[in-house]
Amino acid sequence: DAPDADPFEIARTAAAEIAALTGVAQHDVALTLGSGWGKAADLIGETTHTIPAQEITGFSAPALEGHVGTLRSVLLPSGKRALVIGARTHYYEGHGVRRVVHSVRTAAAAGVKTMVLTNGAGGIKESWKPGTPVLISDHINLTSDSPLEGATFVDLTDLYSSRLRDLARTIEPTLDDGVYCQFRGPQYETPAEVQMAKSFGGHIVGMSTALEAIAARQAGMEILGMSLITNLAAGIQKTPLSHTEVIEAGRNAETVISALLARIVAAL
Ligand code: 6GU
Repeated sequence: DAPDADPFEIARTAAAEIAALTGVAQHDVALTLGSGWGKAADLIGETTHTIPAQEITGFSAPALEGHVGTLRSVLLPSGKRALVIGARTHYYEGHGVRRVVHSVRTAAAAGVKTMVLTNGAGGIKESWKPGTPVLISDHINLTSDSPLEGATFVDLTDLYSSRLRDLARTIEPTLDDGVYCQFRGPQYETPAEVQMAKSFGGHIVGMSTALEAIAARQAGMEILGMSLITNLAAGIQKTPLSHTEVIEAGRNAETVISALLARIVAAL
């Protein structure tokens, strides 16, 4: 967290620790599993190593229910190696954006070329029932922050790879897509903020992913983003939102969407 520390150096240290603990020098794919997606860790392949996140430099124990707090190395049926990140630091925790993107930078330093970012989120499209998985096609970063420091001008065209979205649709042709709006949180949006997001061209509201995707693009990785719609956003759904209901909706959908994600990962 020290301002003069080099976040990339810290990520290289973390990646070296993962390599030492797992004996796996290079991982190919990384998955950040948000709420509702956790079971995918068990479905994609054989977990050979489970590491409590706090044992790795720069990671901390999770603050929140719905997050498991481990890093796993998984051998995929293809022979590729996946790094499963069950320990996400959210921007609203207030530890700064470097901590938020540390897992992505660690994955990049571990050799990862494909970054799968998942989350549980609110839907703006009324046709999306709770439990619907959606491909992220683009994002609007409403945090006013960035993981890039200094004059680092990074292009964000096709940030959420159209190639990977097409590939996901070869597995599940009915997958819809939408523009993800990252709000700071932790409060849910007001109905007026949801209308703003909608008028901006947004379809999904959440509190993660966009900052991580920017860091992943900076690192040169290809990105697949998926949201589980756990509820409709405030004002779209007429009843108040509750974190408990969001977690419960995630649990109810978890088996189905995790199986879908596993089939997509097998095709990567
Ligand atoms: Cl409605 N908003 C945000 N920001 N995150 C969510 C959500 C809504 N529902 C689940 N996660």
